[in-house]
Amino acid sequence: MRTLIKNGRVITATDDYVADILIEGESIIAIGQQLDEPADKIIDASGKLVMPGGIDPHVHLDMPFMGTFSSDNYETGTRAALFGGTTMVIDFVLQKQGNSLQSALDEWKSRSNGNAIGDYSFHMAVTDYNEDTRKEIKNMVEKEGITSFKTFMAYKGALMIDDRQMVGLMQEVKKQGGLINVHATNGDMIDYLVAKHKAEGKLSPLYHYLSQPEVTEAEASGRFADLANYTGCPGYIVHLTCEGALNAVRNATRRNQHVFVETCIQYLLLDAGLYEKDFEGAKWVMSPPLRQPKDQETLWAGINQGLVNVVATDHCPFKWEQKLMGKDDFSKIPNGHPAIEHRMELLFSEGVQKGRISLNKFVEVASTNAARIFGMFPKKGTLAVGSDADIIILDPNETHTLSAKSHHMNVDYSCYEGWQIHGKIKTVLLRGEVAIDNNECYIKKGYGRFIKRKKHTGF
Ligand code: URP
Ligand code: ZN
Ligand code: ZN
Repeated sequence: MRTLIKNGRVITATDDYVADILIEGESIIAIGQQLDEPADKIIDASGKLVMPGGIDPHVHLDMPFMGTFSSDNYETGTRAALFGGTTMVIDFVLQKQGNSLQSALDEWKSRSNGNAIGDYSFHMAVTDYNEDTRKEIKNMVEKEGITSFKTFMAYKGALMIDDRQMVGLMQEVKKQGGLINVHATNGDMIDYLVAKHKAEGKLSPLYHYLSQPEVTEAEASGRFADLANYTGCPGYIVHLTCEGALNAVRNATRRNQHVFVETCIQYLLLDAGLYEKDFEGAKWVMSPPLRQPKDQETLWAGINQGLVNVVATDHCPFKWEQKLMGKDDFSKIPNGHPAIEHRMELLFSEGVQKGRISLNKFVEVASTNAARIFGMFPKKGTLAVGSDADIIILDPNETHTLSAKSHHMNVDYSCYEGWQIHGKIKTVLLRGEVAIDNNECYIKKGYGRFIKRKKHTGF
């Protein structure tokens, strides 16, 4: 099967030109002007932007968490992602404390195998680092193609590891050619503040926010950077939200250390004022919480300074009835918000259309950098001969409105209800197949493939 995309404005992290793209099977086989090649299907992309499919390296699908499961599974979650132009996601396998990494991977495979529509991979979250776990790291990297290892410095008593485990894990991961991702907030301090607020009868969603002040993130980000610097292990901070944490990363650059940084779309666009809405604020209860407008400015600047490398979602949706588990106690509200479908269009509309970032930067932080950092470039994350034909075609002139009534995520509210979006993803190809066209999905459950990743080789 050959598909020819004609006359689109082709944008990569570095290029911007009008050209045709010829696809054969799953890959791009030619890019050029006025390609006169036979094709089974011709797509006219005149007046539209043709870009690499989005990669969201931070999602939680069908995840057991806080006494429930995130409400999008691999089918609904990857389908919603495709509607929004994200052709690949990276999810997190969570080791159970006392159990092996392999048993956790088997559990996640049992939920994902044959169910995904879009492509996916896994990070391995190490919640119990010991001699047995250490021996499993090599196998994860070499055999399973899982080359990134997630750690939590928070969620005390559930997922958190201490610094002793962190240093040991970093040494082993470095040895095996992997990278450590971290949820960098100070779990002990948060645990204290949560208990204090509850003892004082302060139980509304606002106290979720007040239990995780900026210093909890700034301190842990600096500590993580120091440990990564000492061990020489590549480090990646997930969902970084605030000025204090970004300054810790900025400080690390002064000793020529490079700590990779991911923020999420919500931290660029929403602020902690939403926690003033009584229990409705539960929609935005996530960890870390939303911050202040000055932090949003820091993050946009950080993207343009090259300090923030990736814009992800931390998509972790819960239906309203699940959020109600915390009606009388903020610490029981399942943490997370739905965004997998809207990341690309929100970033385009609020970032590119409002002049905050360039088109090339958009592609870089929404796709290319994740592919580079997580060992998939240039198969994923760019438009080049030999790359997977994961392609989005975006009409920059079409406007539309976000709503729970029209989104495809399995959640009964939208955190962006009524937002006007300038730019619409019209067509999405995944490995050469038309996945989305004019609001219809044309590929089925099982098409999504697990992508084995290479070792981390730099940036
Ligand atoms: O609130 C969040 N972020 N939920 C998902 C788990 C995590 O910390 O990423
Ligand atoms: Zn987290
Ligand atoms: Zn997360």
